[in-house]
Amino acid sequence: MKQVFIKEYPNHTRDKFELLDILEYIQEAFNFGKRASRTRMDLHLNPPPALKSLFEWEASLNLDVLKYICRGESPIDCLDYGIIGSWGIKYEKEAGLVIHNHFPYAYTCAYYLNVFEDSAPLMVIPNGNKDKKDAEPVEIKEGYMYVIPGWWYHYVEDNRSLDRTAIISNWLPEAQENLKVSNFN
Ligand SMILES: [Fe+2]
Repeated sequence: MKQVFIKEYPNHTRDKFELLDILEYIQEAFNFGKRASRTRMDLHLNPPPALKSLFEWEASLNLDVLKYICRGESPIDCLDYGIIGSWGIKYEKEAGLVIHNHFPYAYTCAYYLNVFEDSAPLMVIPNGNKDKKDAEPVEIKEGYMYVIPGWWYHYVEDNRSLDRTAIISNWLPEAQENLKVSNFN
């Protein structure tokens, strides 16, 4: 069974350089300490057209993603999902990312915007553990989106290429009045 939901973004060639420009423009002086940087984490709020297209495409795949996560066995089509956080992240040579997950978000989309040869793979731990001995490498390809459930731990080993830029988005069911627990009080 395929461990990660993967889909090619149809507008990658059209929008790649515009998206890189957008990320450059909103880059923050945020540094992970070793040649990695990221943008603000609210790219989904009033996004420029190229970013809006990307997020709308991701949203159009929501049901496919949920069926993949649930293996097709869940009343999953009754909730609307929305982005709760989104950002661009760039790794230069020798930058990596420590092991972490995105809980409590339902799932996370990582669209790889600029990937050079020898870019580090995404290391995922599909069994829910936080033990690197259970990690599996996912080779990443530019122009493709990779989706993992929010509770999966993952990390990035030190990158070997000059650039490895991705746009990340976290997704959650949107609050709906008839489903809020507080309504049962
Ligand atoms: Fe992550």
